[in-house]
Amino acid sequence: MSVGQSPAVPVYDDDPVRGFALAAVLWGVVGMLVGVIIAAQLAWPELNFGIPWLSFGRLRPLHTNAVIFAFGGCALFATSFHVVQRTCQTTLFAPALARFVFWGWQAVILAAAISLPLGYTQGKEYAELEWPIDILITLVWVSYAIVFFGTVGRRKVRHIYVANWFFGAFILAVALLHVVNSAAIPAGFMKSYSVYAGVQDAMVQWWYGHNAVGFFLTAGFLGMMYYYIPKQAERPVYSYRLSIVHFWALIFTYMWAGPHHLHYTALPDWAQSIGMLFSLILLAPSWGGMINGVMTLSGAWHKLRDDPILKFLIVALSFYGMSTFEGPMMAIKTVNALSHYTDWTIGHVHSGALGWVGFVSMGSLYYLIPRMFGRTQMHSVRAIELHFWIATIGVVLYIAAMWIAGVMQGLMWRSVNPDGTLVYSFVESVKATYPFYVVRLVGGVLYLVGMLIMSWNVVMTVSRGKAATVPVPTGLATA
Ligand code: HEM
Ligand code: HEM
Repeated sequence: MSVGQSPAVPVYDDDPVRGFALAAVLWGVVGMLVGVIIAAQLAWPELNFGIPWLSFGRLRPLHTNAVIFAFGGCALFATSFHVVQRTCQTTLFAPALARFVFWGWQAVILAAAISLPLGYTQGKEYAELEWPIDILITLVWVSYAIVFFGTVGRRKVRHIYVANWFFGAFILAVALLHVVNSAAIPAGFMKSYSVYAGVQDAMVQWWYGHNAVGFFLTAGFLGMMYYYIPKQAERPVYSYRLSIVHFWALIFTYMWAGPHHLHYTALPDWAQSIGMLFSLILLAPSWGGMINGVMTLSGAWHKLRDDPILKFLIVALSFYGMSTFEGPMMAIKTVNALSHYTDWTIGHVHSGALGWVGFVSMGSLYYLIPRMFGRTQMHSVRAIELHFWIATIGVVLYIAAMWIAGVMQGLMWRSVNPDGTLVYSFVESVKATYPFYVVRLVGGVLYLVGMLIMSWNVVMTVSRGKAATVPVPTGLATA
């Protein structure tokens, strides 16, 4: 405990928070850079230079793994460890294990960065990594659960704040998804076969895939929303009761929506219809949560004018609302008949990924980083503002280009002449998409530039930022 500190103020263990926060920024740059490279390859395929490990098929999973699990994952670890200590008024349980979580997760990321370009893959989207890496992920995740729930268990307050419910559900659900979907029989050091076959394999994979969206890309980030928006706006959550309804309705409904990824496949029709129905129901809790977050600003709307961190957090919620309206629409079978296989899906993904996941992480990290390094604020608030506008223009260019391209592709593929022959050949649709791929690339480059500005700002804050007037002891911060 530091000198002059009241014994009532708990001492927090923030080394893992600091490590994960910096790692999130680093992996964000790497993952988005790979995204820009594959976006360029879709416009100009020669950019793989004929080198197998630079080919689109290998770099694409590298991009998805880097942005979801390295960037998003590190942001989730950092914020959950930060939030759980503050809201439970206690220090991290099992500090050595928390450090293992940090280094173990970095080892998983490096193993992915090496094995994916080399072509090792289980061929399951977002679950590509081979079995030895899957075992390491399991060990890290169990340790994470012990640290998180152990900290909740030793809390000094009776109540468990709602952000922890969302983080807790994210941790438990991801453990379940990972273990079930990764069940495989090893057939050599980096080769395995799924224990499931045929349509069961597809169903397990998309039960995993959709809940990776629901729990990895949504529930954990809602945990961030419920802590950092009230903090930054200096207002209580709009409705605590709504947040509890939001929690139970969301986690119950997500689990059943996976079959919307398998419309018009060999999956039994009734299962597809259940997926569609639950996707439509999902609109309600998603919007309930969004409204709760946005309304937290009641009475503090003026703060949006000159607080770029709040801008990031609130615009994140707008994109969350947009993608969770679009998703249920795309889950309707007749709409999916048009959108599936087209770039509309890619537009939907990135309105959620860039607009929601990216923005809420950036806003939370901008709140977190100066406090974790004993600084009054980020080195340059103007740079945060610049980042916000560049990234917003980037997202809009990206998703608008993909929406137009997607609907165009779907319409071209389904147009038939009176004699039943196709009006357009496939390659004609590819040629027509080319300008949109270039616009998407421009949007992606802008988003990456924003992330580079953030990295510069973070380096300056950590190395040269103005120290807070109340000294923060190294290793144990009390903010
Ligand atoms: C600079 C920013 C980014 C660029 C330029 C970019 C670009 C791309 C490209 C070109 C693809 C492949 C599309 C295709 O196969 O047709 C892709 C896929 C994907 N990206 Fe990104 N991306 C960026 C950021 C992100 C972020 C931050 C996330 C998540 C947090 C993300 C998540 C995904 C996912 C999940 C897919 C797979 C989509 C699917 O299979 O339907 N991306 N991205
Ligand atoms: C109410 C919420 C949502 C529903 C009902 C929903 C529904 C859908 C549907 C119907 C598809 C297209 C499936 C296909 O044709 O293959 C899809 C794809 C996708 N969505 Fe959503 N979505 C929702 C929210 C989100 C959010 C918030 C994100 C990101 C943060 C997201 C990320 C994705 C990804 C990554 C895919 C592509 C999966 C793949 O094929 O690789 N979704 N979603």
